[in-house]
Amino acid sequence: MPLLGVLNLSKIYIRGQTTTPVLRDVSFSASAGDFCALTGASGSGKTTLMNLIGLLDRQTTGEIEIAGQKTSLLSADAAARLRNRMIGFVFQSFHLLPCYTALDNVALPLVYRGVSKRMRRELAAAALHQVGLGNRMAHRPDELSGGQRQRVAIARALVGNPKLLLADEPTGNLDSQSADDVMSLFLALNAELGLTVIIVTHDPTIAARCPRRIVMRDGQVLDDSSAALRSVTTT
Ligand SMILES: Nc1ncnc2c1ncn2[C@@H]1O[C@H](COP(=O)(O)OP(=O)(O)O)[C@@H](O)[C@H]1O
Ligand SMILES: [Mg+2]
Repeated sequence: MPLLGVLNLSKIYIRGQTTTPVLRDVSFSASAGDFCALTGASGSGKTTLMNLIGLLDRQTTGEIEIAGQKTSLLSADAAARLRNRMIGFVFQSFHLLPCYTALDNVALPLVYRGVSKRMRRELAAAALHQVGLGNRMAHRPDELSGGQRQRVAIARALVGNPKLLLADEPTGNLDSQSADDVMSLFLALNAELGLTVIIVTHDPTIAARCPRRIVMRDGQVLDDSSAALRSVTTT
């Protein structure tokens, strides 16, 4: 059973008389421990697909299975619980709360899980150590560099111990050195924790470091490097 199954997914935006098909019959699966880049031109549907996989939005047709569980018929509450338990999300623009310290930003998702304050601080500190920011826990976002802010956001995504990490252009706002460091961190988390990672990227040097690359065009999967690899190895 794959960790993630995306089956014949479509998304159509409807406004008045205009319908915009944004995803058309997208299918792929990812096994536990896979590391995929999702690439393709701007407007090809990458963010829409990530938001569907992350259970932040609903498809028009098709199914998303996470650890064998079909998600299309889940209530909003049940989908939120599954997301909270299984999925970590990292955004291009960090989405940190400016008045909170790094530690409090990272601890926040645990509030929704009913974890005690003391345990929240312990787990958040451990996640910050994991991303190399053990010495920046009391800093607020404006006291950190872009690369450090993104690592705080990664720690926040990790603190709930997810199985699937989704990152939408996580290096898009970073200089090339910080982008390289953040990419190295994703690779290390994948290798050390067996975390399944899917990152959207425009950057060819980042994509080249990903073991598997899925290319989208006009809302469809144009190419999937690992599918090609599988068909080569099975013939
Ligand atoms: N809420 C929306 N209503 C209508 N069209 C949308 C909406 N969100 C995205 N789109 C359209 O869907 C297409 C894919 O967008 P997106 O998934 O953001 O692509 P990408 O992340 O690859 O740049 C674009 O043409 C965009 O204009
Ligand atoms: Mg996008």
